[in-house]
Amino acid sequence: MSITNFRGTESDSGKAGASKVTFQSLQEKKQAGKPITALTAYDYATARIVDEAGVDLILVGDSLAMVVMGYDSTLPVTVDEMLHHARAVRRAVRSAVVVVDMPYGSYHVSVAEGVANATRFLKEAGAEAVKIEGGATRCELVERLTDAEIPVVCHLGLTPQAVHRMGGYKVQGKTLAAAEELVRDARMLEAAGASAIVLEGMPREVAANITSQLRIPTIGIGAGPDCDGQILVFHDLVNLSFSRPAKFVRQYADASALFRTAIEGYVQDVAARAFPDESESYHLPKEAAAALPHGAALLRKA
Ligand code: KIV
Repeated sequence: MSITNFRGTESDSGKAGASKVTFQSLQEKKQAGKPITALTAYDYATARIVDEAGVDLILVGDSLAMVVMGYDSTLPVTVDEMLHHARAVRRAVRSAVVVVDMPYGSYHVSVAEGVANATRFLKEAGAEAVKIEGGATRCELVERLTDAEIPVVCHLGLTPQAVHRMGGYKVQGKTLAAAEELVRDARMLEAAGASAIVLEGMPREVAANITSQLRIPTIGIGAGPDCDGQILVFHDLVNLSFSRPAKFVRQYADASALFRTAIEGYVQDVAARAFPDESESYHLPKEAAAALPHGAALLRKA
């Protein structure tokens, strides 16, 4: 049963009966050759739409530092800020598997601190997995998280938290040696216990090679069509990111234009006293209204 509240929203998910996605079902999709769909979300409303549209995996990405908070990199966002957004997303999602990004600095000082912070995402936000960036150097952390029953999604290639080491947001793995290193890193992370790997900003051939060598799913972003799944940043998909889109982004809607038109219409209507109108107003019974000081004058106006 759904209960409609004052704002006209329903308390249960609109897509009753959609089965729960798990890392096991994602692996079955890989084995069956069925593409995995993934998207970021950072708040209740968008997470609800993304989930009800049937997306398999929702990432509360640290990209929120840029597209929601307006920073020029992902580095400043904190564990507490990620928790705040992750809780909102978790409340919205019924079907998709919810993964939360560990922000920069939350797992770089020590493995123990990484495990402690990851534990907070499961306990305090209901995350089903955490995502960390980096290659072979993260294997010990992946093992410790796995020991602590925390599923881990790894992130290889163009890793935005390493923007300063990379000298900018640049495609990685462009030489044979660099490509071989990415393949080796992916294999080591899988052996350490990773549940899936995001492959970002690398040549299609490298992502295809990694995908064919792993049992766990790969999810690509700017890594070509041969990965087991694809992920995009929600704000890029609907043109809300206020930046020149990267080559790999396909815009499926222009929410920026849609919102602008709606808000300009609202501003015009309020300025012209055309909003709200009679049908959008609540009323006292006529006698009570007439008995209010100046009531009769107000009623004549209406
Ligand atoms: O933070 C994020 O949105 C991400 C995706 C780009 C994979 O890590």
